[in-house]
Amino acid sequence: MGGLAERVIQRIVVLMLGSFIGLLALCKIVIDCVKVGPSKVFSQQKRNKPPACLEDSSLGTHGYAHLEDIRMHYVSNGSEDKPLMLLVHGFPEFWYSWRYQLKEFKDRYRVVAVDLRGYNETDKPAGKSNYKTAKLVADIKQLITALGYSDCVLVGHDWGGVVCWMFAETFPDLVNHLIILNCPNFKVFQKHLRSSLKQAKMSWYIYFFQLPFLPELMFRLQDYAILDQLFRGKHSGVRSDRMSDEDIEAYKYTFSRSGLTGPINFYRAGFGGERRPPDQSGSRSKGISVPTLLLWVQRMQRWITDLQKCPGNRRQKIKDILKTEDWRRKTACSSLPG
Ligand SMILES: *[C@@H]1O[C@H](CO)[C@@H](O)[C@H](O)[C@H]1NC(C)=O
Ligand SMILES: *[C@@H]1O[C@H](CO)[C@@H](O)[C@H](O)[C@H]1NC(C)=O
Repeated sequence: MGGLAERVIQRIVVLMLGSFIGLLALCKIVIDCVKVGPSKVFSQQKRNKPPACLEDSSLGTHGYAHLEDIRMHYVSNGSEDKPLMLLVHGFPEFWYSWRYQLKEFKDRYRVVAVDLRGYNETDKPAGKSNYKTAKLVADIKQLITALGYSDCVLVGHDWGGVVCWMFAETFPDLVNHLIILNCPNFKVFQKHLRSSLKQAKMSWYIYFFQLPFLPELMFRLQDYAILDQLFRGKHSGVRSDRMSDEDIEAYKYTFSRSGLTGPINFYRAGFGGERRPPDQSGSRSKGISVPTLLLWVQRMQRWITDLQKCPGNRRQKIKDILKTEDWRRKTACSSLPG
């Protein structure tokens, strides 16, 4: 019962914070309308044709896997008799984020870059409960089987990292090596979110994403200007020539067609105050037992310390090879853990 009361209070606090940020967002829209005019703020380019880079057949072949409740789209390269390397993208991205890895690893692996549910060509079931982390994990399990494999090298970035951490903990037998790019273990992250005001402030968007409708609208403003900021901005962007105008256009094209409701629903279902799904074994947390390589940006150092304290994290190798450079390129060059 105490647990229920705690969850209700948590939910109310999250919604209040979300509403407050929502109000600020609305103010920003009004201010922008005054500054540059509503027609610019709500402008949207018509995109009828994908940019050429999305049709580049040298990256790989498009495929679909029919899973239990969805059809999943992926792009793959490399021969089918090679071991499987599964690449799981973050928010708000899609398979295209792995364009360098598809090329880099295709000689040694069957490399498969997925579109998670809600993204691009993969099905987008309605309702946020369809985006619970447990469902995302189940999709990966079914995909491995559908591709005809019994294990894989699992690589996840950002939200894809959340999914991969959970996957490796739940199904360690299906993972040879776990490679995580810039994503804390979910448990560590939740703990930080609750206990550190600084972290809560940095994660304001998670509260904002709990609101309906408004987050999607914010993404669409000024022709998806947020994507420019996210991928090339001073604060969070890729600091190199690895993200061209055409690449940005690829993301804009895709999200203007497939929308952002599915992707944002990951946050609505995953941080909405629900209980974490019970451990499959029914016992307390098993921790991570598969060999893990964690690639991290240095300014997030404090999480690494906490990660090392996680139960069962004996075999983790934590590398800070990135500093502030372009992790996508760097990962393509770094070798796999042996
Ligand atoms: C894999 O990549 C190579 C070169 O990058 C390309 O020529 C080939 O068509 C791709 N193979 C598949 C199966 O898509
Ligand atoms: C998904 O991405 C592909 C490129 O891989 C693009 O051609 C297609 O139009 C996109 N579909 C949607 C629904 O965004």
